[in-house]
Amino acid sequence: MALKKLVAGNWKMHGTGADLAEVNAISLAAETAPCDVALCLPATLIERAVRAAPGFAIGGQDCHSADKGAHTGEISAAMLKDAGALLTIVGHSERRESHGESDAVVRAKAETAMAEGLSVILCVGESLETREAGRAVEVVSAQIDASLPPAATGKTLAVAYEPIWAIGTGKVPSADDIAEMHAALRNRLVDAYGDAGREIRILYGGSVKATNAAEIFAIANVDGALVGGASLKAADFLPIIAAGAA
Ligand code: PGA
Repeated sequence: MALKKLVAGNWKMHGTGADLAEVNAISLAAETAPCDVALCLPATLIERAVRAAPGFAIGGQDCHSADKGAHTGEISAAMLKDAGALLTIVGHSERRESHGESDAVVRAKAETAMAEGLSVILCVGESLETREAGRAVEVVSAQIDASLPPAATGKTLAVAYEPIWAIGTGKVPSADDIAEMHAALRNRLVDAYGDAGREIRILYGGSVKATNAAEIFAIANVDGALVGGASLKAADFLPIIAAGAA
């Protein structure tokens, strides 16, 4: 049976108070959406967004693996929770690449976030070089095996498959390549968590737009999307949400 889809926006380093009107418009659409909707915002906007759109799922984009401590500039899972976040992304490729985050670090972040009561969107994905070498499934399978927290359910975890070469580029893998990767990820999740692994949503991310969302959502084991650029404006994001009927 198909899982209810999750369409999550990732605003990355975009958004100030002036953009709260977009959050509002998206949260209103979420009330009648055919899928679950969330927005992962810059930390500075979370509390204001939660106030502006009570009950709407607002998340962070990362958290530290430690509960607290001398980590200048970092944000803890407890801080996200305190600001009103319900979820957080961990292991986005932009952090794995530019902050040197290993699978072990990503796993520790996921565990800390869950212990704090946040649900987690855990990202994996291959480089273009790996894809062209024909090793995408092997490399991403190893990544997920080493990044998964020891326990998870469909309520506490979603996985996002985001090929690095598809992020912000307008390029999207073929439907067959997405299906192959999502089937491999489903197997890894069932291996790790038994039947609970069938309830964990596997999102696709990387250049999802209004024009390709329905086609991507129709692929087996695609249980939603993690959307960057096209989540910043309600006008771009709402048609993607509308395409998210299971
Ligand atoms: P994009 O980003 O939709 O702008 O390609 C996706 C992501 O990085 O989560």
